[in-house]
Amino acid sequence: MTKNTKILVVDDDKGHRITLLTLLADWGYDVEGVDDGAPAIVLCRKQAFDLVLMDVRMAEVDGIEALKEIRGFNPAIPIIIMTAFSDVDDAVTAIKAGAYDYLTKPLDFDELKLMLERAMDHVTLREENHALRHALSATFDSGDVIGQSSAMRYVLDMVAAIAPSEATVLITGESGTGKELIAKMIHRNSNRRDGPFVAINCAALSESLLESELFGHEKGAFTGAEKYREGRFSTAHSGTLFLDEIGEMPLPMQAKLLRAIQEREIQRVGGDTVIHVDVRILAATNRDLRKEVEAGRFRQDLYYRLNVVSVTLPPLREREEDIPLLATFFLRKFAEKNGKNIRGFTPAAMNMLVRYFWPGNVRELENTVERATVLLMGAYVSERELPPGLLQEMNGSGGNANNFSNMTLEEIERVIVRDALESAGGNKSEAARRLGITRKTLAAKMRE
Ligand SMILES: Nc1ncnc2c1ncn2[C@@H]1O[C@H](COP(=O)(O)OP(=O)(O)O)[C@@H](O)[C@H]1O
Ligand SMILES: [Mg+2]
Repeated sequence: MTKNTKILVVDDDKGHRITLLTLLADWGYDVEGVDDGAPAIVLCRKQAFDLVLMDVRMAEVDGIEALKEIRGFNPAIPIIIMTAFSDVDDAVTAIKAGAYDYLTKPLDFDELKLMLERAMDHVTLREENHALRHALSATFDSGDVIGQSSAMRYVLDMVAAIAPSEATVLITGESGTGKELIAKMIHRNSNRRDGPFVAINCAALSESLLESELFGHEKGAFTGAEKYREGRFSTAHSGTLFLDEIGEMPLPMQAKLLRAIQEREIQRVGGDTVIHVDVRILAATNRDLRKEVEAGRFRQDLYYRLNVVSVTLPPLREREEDIPLLATFFLRKFAEKNGKNIRGFTPAAMNMLVRYFWPGNVRELENTVERATVLLMGAYVSERELPPGLLQEMNGSGGNANNFSNMTLEEIERVIVRDALESAGGNKSEAARRLGITRKTLAAKMRE
């Protein structure tokens, strides 16, 4: 179960590269070497390296370019740049582009050794937080909406442009992609931000209940209507009404909704007074409404009314650059909630998260991270805290990680403690450090 730190050496000078590889292997690291930035990028996409040691001047893709590219899909990996003493400018550029640190050539091997040790202690949330802040400052009041991928930036720019208008917006995308979050963001950045944001899930209610939820009802309007009730349209007055899962709305209700939107007037169930309402409508669906129209399940006129502007959220698997940012954001949130001192993900775990298919999108990622936070005893989330399904998806064969799903928490803890001791060669202080607990706590757990 012992896993060595894996380092990628990128240097076009063959002699220098081989010297480094020999030295690092001697120090107990797993090493691999390539002679240009281009193969380095390819390798980092395929394998989970813990650290990259990279030359700057190379023939095809130089070190800075490769650094930017690699950090694009893995912002957590520490990359150390090697520059000639005369090229300090390169070092500055590299640091600005996110390099962990730099070394000048000819390398001082003691300095290299120290830097590697320090870097491995530093694969922390601090690094990832930096990327996170950067991602957030790139957008306007995006609140808790995270996205740095070009697909999400497009969405966020679009939202920034349409939020201040009064336009009805149709938000589409698979379940769990963040449609409700985007609806709230539109409201928060609109001129109605001081008014209410009212959401209603059209799939959750029967047809008659949906009508009285939307429009309200008079006392005695139907059996069980003991009191007068205000509808969501009235509650949302001067604000925004979010009609979630609009594709599930029954046809007769669609006609009533269309009238309400066109006339900006509603009638309570069992009443005949006409009430004027001032609301902006946002709607969301995970269905293809055009197809629903063709199939006769959705009114075409309502579709055109709703689809004045449309925003489409890409599935998570089409924005893998955002996965590390989202995972780190959720990890911080749940670590805080559970009072745990968690420092981050191991590169291998992060790699798994980035490659998984995520049929349940961001919601599934959020749940996965929450589960891992609860399971974790140590400082870093590893493959072992991730659901076995993720592994199977990764390598088809079922993977080699422990299957925790049929184990009690106590059993899981025992496995983890034993693993840590084993991988620390029986050294208790080291094992405690790896687990992120004190020696004393470890001793207690060993007694158990
Ligand atoms: N870009 C994002 N940044 C941060 N959290 C997100 C993002 N997208 C989705 N989430 C979170 O994922 C969960 C599901 O999002 P939600 O808006 O309910 O999805 P949908 O309405 O499309 O099913 C929520 O907890 C939401 O806060
Ligand atoms: Mg939703």
